[in-house]
Amino acid sequence: MKKLLLATFSFLSLSAFAQTALKTTVSKKADAIEKQIIAWRRDFHEHPELGNREVRTSGIIAAYLKSLGIEVKTGVATTGVIGVLKGGKPGPVVALRADMDGLPVTERVDLPFASKVKTTYNGQEVGAMHACGHDSHMAILMGVAEVLSSMKADLRGTVKFIFQPAEEGVPLGEKGGAEQMVKEGVLENPKVDVIFGLHINSQIEVGKITYRPAGTMAGVSDMQITVKGRSAHGAYPWSSIDPIVVSAQIITSLQSIVSRNVNITENPAVVTVGIIQGGTRFNIIPETVKMQGTLRYFTENDEKLVIENVKRIATKTAEAYGATAEVIAPFSNHYPVTYNDVVLTAKMLPTLEATAGKENVILRPPVTGAEDFSFYQQKVPGIFFFLGGMPKGGNPLTAPSHHTPDFVLDESGFTLGVKALCNLTLDYMNAKGK
Ligand code: NI
Repeated sequence: MKKLLLATFSFLSLSAFAQTALKTTVSKKADAIEKQIIAWRRDFHEHPELGNREVRTSGIIAAYLKSLGIEVKTGVATTGVIGVLKGGKPGPVVALRADMDGLPVTERVDLPFASKVKTTYNGQEVGAMHACGHDSHMAILMGVAEVLSSMKADLRGTVKFIFQPAEEGVPLGEKGGAEQMVKEGVLENPKVDVIFGLHINSQIEVGKITYRPAGTMAGVSDMQITVKGRSAHGAYPWSSIDPIVVSAQIITSLQSIVSRNVNITENPAVVTVGIIQGGTRFNIIPETVKMQGTLRYFTENDEKLVIENVKRIATKTAEAYGATAEVIAPFSNHYPVTYNDVVLTAKMLPTLEATAGKENVILRPPVTGAEDFSFYQQKVPGIFFFLGGMPKGGNPLTAPSHHTPDFVLDESGFTLGVKALCNLTLDYMNAKGK
């Protein structure tokens, strides 16, 4: 018994020692390829491609993964690339995801590798730019592939590299993004046990990682409300049922959902009307008004609650005025909550802290933006975290934000992303692997 205890103890301490040694190896390997990671990123940055058009981009990724001896599948959800790296030892399947698309934004940053690309989007001529940092996500994940494939013999499991198109949405009438990749079986064959992903952030200092367990980015549903009344001459409103007055009441009443229905001490929610269209002339009361907006929440319960309240308030308010309201929610856009599995996050937090330094891993408030990484997390437990991309000492309030022509990244933060994804993979495997 004593012997057994001793043996267990020495196994544990050896394992802790081995884990530290692994992190040192990862760190050295990641630092050694920093220049290459930055070079990949600059090349992607100079040649951005919009969602479902990532042909050049995915070609480069697929060729590189193949050169590392990784099994590659292309053309998933249009331009997606999947790489499967089988380790030398049995164990779980860890998926790592990077998104590949740029945005219809004309770059204004003065850099030698700034994008000058022009393309078309929904029939319009537009500039294209990696204005959300997906170029860095790809370069980081290629770096991870390089590091982990060099440790292949010792890997206790399989790594699935997911390079996903169209995170920012697809052109009208097309399918794509994470939802489509899941439909096409990205989480099967081999079956994924866990998924990790990161997003660079231009308003978080390099060297820092921010995270949040449970609801981390909002679930989104858009809505369309069509209010129908009766048209009349603007001088004789008593002959009308005025949909403009009804719509004004509906918009005002919708404000009470967040303030009076959602328990905002637990989770925030957002109800925004972004479009209101009705009428053709100043003195004609129109027959219909159309409104569109976005609803955001952090739990499935709040999703139901917000949508039900929008429907009830809109239809019953219209009814009170003798009009009708038809509500479609979701209308054309629906993302689940980006939900970090609570147990998994607690289990992997020490890995992030050991990688970045405890003081550099920061719990963040929920983000009311959305991410289609949530579609993977609906099927398997996962963690999505944020990586610093703002120069040290920068001001997060004035640093150019994502999706703007001035968006800029400090490239010195990339290797931390490589190390974090490698260490999450190795620590998860070593805790599970036999
Ligand atoms: Ni993004």
